Amino acid sequence: MINRTRRLRKTANIRRLVRENKLTVDDFIYPIFIEEGEYIETEIKSMPGIKRFSLDTVSKELDELTTLNIPAVLLFGIPSEKDDTGTETWSDDGIIQKAIRYIKKEYPSLYVITDVCFCEYTNHGHCGVLNDLEVDNEATLVNIAKQALSHAKAGADMVAPSGMMDGTISTMRAALDKEGYYDLPIMGYTVKYASAFYGPFRDAADSAPSFGDRKTYQMDPANRAVGQREAAFDDAEGADILMVKPALSYLDIVSDLKNNFDHPIACYNVSGEYAMIKAAAEKGWIDGERVMMESLLSMKRAGADIIITYFAKEAAKILKRS
Ligand code: PBG
Repeated sequence: MINRTRRLRKTANIRRLVRENKLTVDDFIYPIFIEEGEYIETEIKSMPGIKRFSLDTVSKELDELTTLNIPAVLLFGIPSEKDDTGTETWSDDGIIQKAIRYIKKEYPSLYVITDVCFCEYTNHGHCGVLNDLEVDNEATLVNIAKQALSHAKAGADMVAPSGMMDGTISTMRAALDKEGYYDLPIMGYTVKYASAFYGPFRDAADSAPSFGDRKTYQMDPANRAVGQREAAFDDAEGADILMVKPALSYLDIVSDLKNNFDHPIACYNVSGEYAMIKAAAEKGWIDGERVMMESLLSMKRAGADIIITYFAKEAAKILKRS
């Protein structure tokens, strides 16, 4: 037999030599939930191992991240007060703004990315300004510009808008450039689906919509081609990194983007994907560590350069051992 692929699988060392993809700690962004208040360290029930912290308790988490050499965090804020439009998102004294200043001062080596959205800050839980029962794209863009600028002023290293409003990237780019933030990169939540995999996050961030769903702004899980259009628009509007979200059920999209764009591609290994592995592992039905590493690796194989994941700390520990 001429073709025997098994020849190159015979020993661990030959497998090492021919391995096409490797995970490293350099791939990871770790999401952190920061809540307004004091002494807060609340376990999120559906996300074992993940907590909400207040600014006075978050240092142990940040210490661990820097010890593990995880390059970046993605910040989500949980404010004490919500309103119709989420005005707290652009307050200089908002929880995210305080968190950025604190982290950049105490942990200058950590790269701080902020989620630019409204759903944790609006009393209706939608990702922008409501006009009747619809999210108003244009009115929301005005506020997105204010929020992004406010994060920039507080010292964010990168901003990442997750609301799926059309024209977000160009609006943000113009607002940032006007104030001199030419060098602040934008990571687009470029291809973001209306997904049930966000369930645990909405508990974590207290951001479930109080009525309806997000199907008028987030993408239909049945669609693939429109992901390319979203990416072409974000590219033309000046996005620096293109993201796909969720990750595991959308690896075809990750690979589409990798093949058709030369930006770094990120994917968001979301809360539901984390919860499923944790739950099955807790029951003893799967080997949690191995399934975690295999699924993170599958994201790389599909073409992701960057993986946003709640598993970052655990995976970094395993990578350090091996
Ligand atoms: C906010 C936002 C969501 C997630 C990240 N940013 C929730 C949503 O769109 O409903 C989900 C993250 C996760 O599930 O881990 N717009």
